[in-house]
Amino acid sequence: MKVLGIDIGGSGIKAAIVNTKNGELLSERHRIDTPKTAEPKAVAKIIKEMVKHFGWKGPVGCCFPTIIVNNQCMHYGNLSKEWVGVKVDKLFKKECKGVKFYISNDADLAGVAEINLGAGKGVKGKIFVITLGTGIGSGLFYDGKLIPNVELGRIYHTDGDIIEKFAADSARKREDLPLKDWAKRVDLFLNHVKTIHTPKLFIIGGGISKKFDKFKEYLTVDIPVEVAKFGNNAGIIGAAIYASKKSKK
Ligand code: BGC
Repeated sequence: MKVLGIDIGGSGIKAAIVNTKNGELLSERHRIDTPKTAEPKAVAKIIKEMVKHFGWKGPVGCCFPTIIVNNQCMHYGNLSKEWVGVKVDKLFKKECKGVKFYISNDADLAGVAEINLGAGKGVKGKIFVITLGTGIGSGLFYDGKLIPNVELGRIYHTDGDIIEKFAADSARKREDLPLKDWAKRVDLFLNHVKTIHTPKLFIIGGGISKKFDKFKEYLTVDIPVEVAKFGNNAGIIGAAIYASKKSKK
């Protein structure tokens, strides 16, 4: 099935048409900056622009960068506080004149792509898909099944702030950290998660995953760590797979 997948991130909104059988992108990836204020109205306008760009009328799967329960936003993450309580599918459907949207957390959907078709395919047991971007996202899977809305980026770091402020890729950029110093922070985070969860595998996604080969040597955690097969497109692909399944129900 062909589905439009959209990944709403803290800094960019990215989309492509996806073949949900194999995860192949059937179009160019289109990216528009996330509006600075990131309020519901401003983001909905970009979604409309995106749907128009692809001339899309079919179902749309959409990654959202915070907790989503039944298409409703439960936290504001790194977006505007106005998002709390918003029924994201309804907002976008109204803006796009009836196009149907299926919304879920971004890391959960990146995980759906990786577990079904990527680095976690066929792996049994507990897997964390960790996305490193503006925030830290985490998708938890057990025997291929998603356990939604696990928010590992929001655990506290010793300095009293949440750990994503310390180890997300945005921290590397903000503090202009050498890759090695930043990777050691990621390693601290992964070791902490290991202590709590002992997963069988970590899969690392997000834009910085394209530099995985350059920073993996600094990861000491003794759990296998693999790079996301679909890199930063995992969210778009997972969103499309999610929408294809939901729209058939
Ligand atoms: C949010 C998560 C999200 C992650 C990556 C965090 O700030 O709490 O829900 O998955 O950022 O976007």
